[in-house]
Amino acid sequence: MNIIGIESSCDETSAAVICNNKIVSNLIYSQDIHEKYGGVVPELSSRAHLQKVLPLVKKSLDEAGLKLNQVDLICATAGPGLIGALLVGLTFAKGYAYSCNKPFVAVNHIEGHIFSGFLMDDKPEFPFLCLVVSGGHTLLLLVEGFTQIKKLGSTIDDAAGEAFDKVSKLLGLGYPGGVKIQNIALNQKTDFADFPVAQCKNEFDFSFSGVKTSVLRFIQKEFEKPENIPVDLLPLIAASFQKSVVKALIDKTEKALRRFNIKSLSLVGGVAANQMLRLGFQELSVRYKKKLVIPDFRFCGDNGAMIAFRGMQLHEVGIRNSLDFNAYPSLKDNTFIN
Ligand code: KG4
Ligand code: ZN
Repeated sequence: MNIIGIESSCDETSAAVICNNKIVSNLIYSQDIHEKYGGVVPELSSRAHLQKVLPLVKKSLDEAGLKLNQVDLICATAGPGLIGALLVGLTFAKGYAYSCNKPFVAVNHIEGHIFSGFLMDDKPEFPFLCLVVSGGHTLLLLVEGFTQIKKLGSTIDDAAGEAFDKVSKLLGLGYPGGVKIQNIALNQKTDFADFPVAQCKNEFDFSFSGVKTSVLRFIQKEFEKPENIPVDLLPLIAASFQKSVVKALIDKTEKALRRFNIKSLSLVGGVAANQMLRLGFQELSVRYKKKLVIPDFRFCGDNGAMIAFRGMQLHEVGIRNSLDFNAYPSLKDNTFIN
């Protein structure tokens, strides 16, 4: 079976092909136009997707050695994400499916991330505990099967990646912030400042809005404004901030590890590229004797392969989406997070 997955929910356009369960192509274009604005500009994102989606799909099919009509299933992200950006990938996928008379499946982006560990040779085993950490989402989930996903907690305000991006902007380090903070914080002391992460009523929920504000307050108190921060202190502030966010993510995961009887542990989403977080998960998995699956970097950020894989599973349980004029399909029947 040949499956194409198209992703366009935020600032990555991606097309990937899976042939007989093997990823034969996974092309990702990361939009760089947002860098100078310090965050994603939705309208610019939609336009860039429009320019890239067709060439990427063509190239991905070329890499797979397939013609347009040799694909058996067409999948695209239908949300959550930026509406204009999503519509580009979605309407393209529907048009493709209509013109070749092939089935189309709409995919929930978060579920794409949840099962991205299955793109690896060594896959998670059910039930597994999954931490989804990206620019838009932070969720802790108990995954018992491909259609049995229990949400234990999620962020009540900012996502973890969003906090990285906002603090990076505040420190003048640029966008996307996660990797910039990680790089500048490398090998630095992490106790320069204390940036507390707020506790939540639900023990598995997260809150990252306060930690960002506490960085801002610290800067205002010590230096009046970010421009006055001495350059040699930037790495120390970044390292203290990174430690707070990573610790909050690890602590909640550990709490869930103690509570639930699981076989594996999985860390997914763009922030799963963070070295400190990866090391923390490795340490947890050794201490609790659980199998750990963290996808390769190419499957951590937004990518078409995870959309093709999730679409394939939905197709296997009988899900198809219509190609009607309602451009934005409902994900009600395609979403299994409870
Ligand atoms: O999954 P993703 O590509 O897009 C969303 O679905 O949001 O995640 C992007 C997020 C951004 O916030 C980015 O700053 C963050 O992942 N990120 C990182 C790292 N690499 C990317 N955060 C921390 N450390 C990193 N190394
Ligand atoms: Zn994502």
